[in-house]
Formats: sequence, C-alpha cells, structure tokens
Amino acid sequence: MRLDVVTIFPEYLEPLNVSLVGKARARGQLQVGVHDLRNWTYDRHHTVDDTPYGGGPGMVMKTEPWGDALDEVLADGYEAGAHGPVLVVPTPSGRPFTQELAVELSERPWLVFTPARYEGIDRRVVDEYATRMPVYEVSIGDYVLAGGEAAVLVVTEAVARLLPGVLGNAESHRDDSFAPGTMANLLEGPVHTKPPVWRGRGIPEVLLSGHHGRIARWRRDEALRRTTAHRPDLIGRTAPAAFDKKDREMLSILGWAPDPEGERYGRFWRRVEDVEE
Ligand code: ADE
Repeated sequence: MRLDVVTIFPEYLEPLNVSLVGKARARGQLQVGVHDLRNWTYDRHHTVDDTPYGGGPGMVMKTEPWGDALDEVLADGYEAGAHGPVLVVPTPSGRPFTQELAVELSERPWLVFTPARYEGIDRRVVDEYATRMPVYEVSIGDYVLAGGEAAVLVVTEAVARLLPGVLGNAESHRDDSFAPGTMANLLEGPVHTKPPVWRGRGIPEVLLSGHHGRIARWRRDEALRRTTAHRPDLIGRTAPAAFDKKDREMLSILGWAPDPEGERYGRFWRRVEDVEE
C-alpha cells in the first residue's frame, strides 16, 4: 500500500516512522510520502490560507496550493507505479471512521490524505478531485481537533494493522472489538498475563482451568458486561438472533430485555429499568 500525506506540519507525521507503521514501512509493506503543502506556495510568506467568503471567524485553506500539491503527488505516485488512489479528507464534518471503513480502506492500494488546519479547505478542492477518484471525508470522533494530522495517524494505524502480514497473526483481527461480520458487535473483555498474583490480586479461576468451553463463555459474559456498561447503543441495535440462550441469561442478569416496541426503530433491547418509568 502507498500512503501520501500533504500537510503544513510534516513533523507531526513523525510517528509514522515508529512501531507497527514504521516496521511495515521498513519491510516494504507500506510506502509513505509526507509532503509539505508550503512547497506549493509561490509568495514570500508561503501563504496557504485566506479569509472566508461570506464572512465568519477563522481562515480557509486556499485552493491553489492544495490543487498543485495533489496534482504533483498524484502524478509522482502514478509514475512510481501506484494506481487506484483514494482521497481521505479528515474533517469533523465527515462520516464516522469505523472499523468497517478501516477494512474498506485497507483494501485500497493507495491512500492520499489531506489534513487541514484552520476552518478547513476551500470546498472546490474536494469537489474537483471527487471527479477523478473516490473521496472519503472522515471524522474520528465527535470532538474538534486543531487539525487533521492526528486523525491521519489514527486512520493510518487502524488501516496498517489490517494489511496482510503486518500484525503477524492474521487471527488477531477476528476478535477485534468492532470487527465487521461478527454477529454481535461486542467490546472485548479484560485480559490477564503472568504473574498469577500481583499485589494480592489473582487471575479469574476459570482462565486457569484449561476448560476452553468455560473460558469462551466467561469471555463472552465479560464482553456483554463491558458492552452494556460502556456502549449500551451497541447492545440495543443487535438483532436478537445474534445472542444465544446463555447470552440472554447474562443480558437479563445485567438488566436487559428484548424490546418488541423498539424493533421498528432498530432497537431490539432495552434496559429493564427504562420500562418501568
Ligand atoms: N479535524 C478536526 N477535528 C477532526 C475530527 N474529529 N476528525 C477528523 N478530522 C478532524
């Protein structure tokens, strides 16, 4: 996979040299190019922003540097043999970045990122490149960062670990929290390793039992416990068929019941105390 990032803060992307992504680069599984947007400015001050049409606070990133930068980065990539680019535009106004989208992006051969600062990039830039390639405007969460660079790091790490051979153990993705295709979308429960006792705290007996069936059941129950606590929305929208009898027992212990009323809205489960109000 090839990655290009155009930014006014190339040094912000230094973490791409480290750890999983850094190793994938060193092994040749990833080719990364980080490009300084200011290389495509031609005035003395290397201006990349201007005041917004229509007024309002803040500044807007200008069309010309982005257009010239993207044209050159794309041309150089094609020349180096890359193909099938997609533009990834981090923005708080984008669609939510999810594991499903990470999987989709990991199947593309070439990602070009355009992290913005200020109030964002003049809309015409995205509109222009959308005529040439798929564009993904993505938000990494419901908060506003000072710029898109941190989002590029987030997306890159989520995507890179899915590339064949990068994680070592292909099985590792299967149990990922949010892994698409799993029936119920549950958060992963707690994990433990040696020593068996630490500051007086032991390991749940069942994990030492060697009984695979009971261990799997315990893990499933812990996943249900954690998901109901931290992400009740994920439980609510899980189709009843995704839970077996033991799951239902656990859900009932945790205070959840089927919600025939909510089914029309895609809400299959409700907290029991929500009914009695
Ligand atoms: N830029 C600023 N905030 C962002 C967010 N939440 N996601 C992606 N890019 C951003």
